[in-house]
Amino acid sequence: MESLVQSNEQLFEALITGILTEGYAIADGFLSPPEVQRILDASAASYEQGGFNIAGIGKKQHYQLNQEIRGDHIQWLDHHNPPPACLPFFDRLGEMIQYFNRSLYLGIRDMELHFAVYPVGAFYKRHLDVFQHTRARKISIICYLNFDWVPEDGGQLRLYFPQEDGTEQHTDILPLAGRLVCFNSQSLEHEVLPARRRRYSITGWLRDELSFFDPPLPGNI
Ligand code: OGA
Ligand code: MN
Repeated sequence: MESLVQSNEQLFEALITGILTEGYAIADGFLSPPEVQRILDASAASYEQGGFNIAGIGKKQHYQLNQEIRGDHIQWLDHHNPPPACLPFFDRLGEMIQYFNRSLYLGIRDMELHFAVYPVGAFYKRHLDVFQHTRARKISIICYLNFDWVPEDGGQLRLYFPQEDGTEQHTDILPLAGRLVCFNSQSLEHEVLPARRRRYSITGWLRDELSFFDPPLPGNI
């Protein structure tokens, strides 16, 4: 038990260091293979039953469906009543938020999360995760659910890094089962390259404002 707590704290500390120094961080094994399998089964079943919607761009009056920009399908998750398969993920995320709030003074008070499925051929063009009218999103998180994903399957998350000399570099991240990626929602431009296999993930944002359709998180997170 002690060592579990210890290793969680080391993991969260490594994530914070990555976000502060590089703008992003990766935690492989954030979920164990059996945990991933249960979430994947729940997501795939819901997708097959038509529980997903085509994802849009922007909110309210800015909302538009635009397959030329993104082709994923999503299902919003209620973090006050998550699907049972997702409980280990939500528990770990709750601990992570508490740790982030203690160490980073981010004041995370809310989160929004959805399942995402990229059908074969789907992509999400380069973008920032903040909407024009709100900057409440602080940290983007994505946890991938794809076993045996190889570079030939595409679907990489590409992160862009402007350099001081005006040039730009990028890093590509494979959507591997159990892998968590976190990055600064306000500044890090990114895209999802076309997937050649159906690509599953849970995507979410840690926010410093309460979204108006959601009650606050329990406790002090
Ligand atoms: C998003 C997004 C990245 C990914 O949903 O906003 O950028 O790797 N997702 O799924
Ligand atoms: Mn994004």
